[in-house]
Amino acid sequence: MAIEDRLKGIILAGGTGSRLKQNTEVQNKHLVRVGKYPMIEYPLATLAKLGVNDITVVTGAEHAGSIMNYLTRRHPEIDFTYKVQKEAGGIAQALALTRNVVEGHKIAVILGDNIYEEDFRLYASGFLQKNEGCQLFLKRVPDPHRFGVAEVRDGRVFSIEEKPTHPKSNLAVTGLYFFDASVFDKIGQLKPSARGEYEITDVNNMYVHEDRACVALVDGFWSDAGTLPSLDHCEEWLRESGYDPLRAK
Ligand code: G1P
Repeated sequence: MAIEDRLKGIILAGGTGSRLKQNTEVQNKHLVRVGKYPMIEYPLATLAKLGVNDITVVTGAEHAGSIMNYLTRRHPEIDFTYKVQKEAGGIAQALALTRNVVEGHKIAVILGDNIYEEDFRLYASGFLQKNEGCQLFLKRVPDPHRFGVAEVRDGRVFSIEEKPTHPKSNLAVTGLYFFDASVFDKIGQLKPSARGEYEITDVNNMYVHEDRACVALVDGFWSDAGTLPSLDHCEEWLRESGYDPLRAK
């Protein structure tokens, strides 16, 4: 069976974009231009390269219409489903909204502000064949306190901490996750974190405790584009590399 029948795609594009303030007062954060394209084109291309063409997009209520308009118009080849996250309750809460669309399938979830150079197709077919619960992608970064941080020994992950003050490594857990169908039951068991959000890191740690979490290092460029400095960093790389998400198929 082809990947597109077995792996469903999800883009989490909620949130208010408060960290990109002057750019997001009048438009959706995920439509802010990065290089030549609106931000969402990059995670969309990462899923499209996996062979996934059935994609659920979770957006915030504000400006949700503009993102639906944009995607429907620009990508008629993709079968989009939309869900609206009414409050800012965290990444895991946004993911839970997609349950009735993708239930029973393995899923590839990407955060709407994450930009990758790598093609993850081989990982996707490997994940569909294996019995791992989740596949995470790590990147060495100079500022791990901004991210989920993984402690890895002998190629296995032992713990993940969300935005730790004293990171145990420089391995950020990046915003692309492959999950098996048990992810929604795991989200159902979550309690809100100290900052009042349902954290994807807590979900990932449940797989870690079951010893069903697989990790790999991201090859090539990766960054989020959700803060002004990280947006600049992406712009600079795009300028220098000439990477084009719509051509890199
Ligand atoms: C989120 C996740 C974090 C992850 C990061 C990747 O953080 O909570 O674990 O490392 O995305 O971009 P956010 O950027 O939403 O604060």
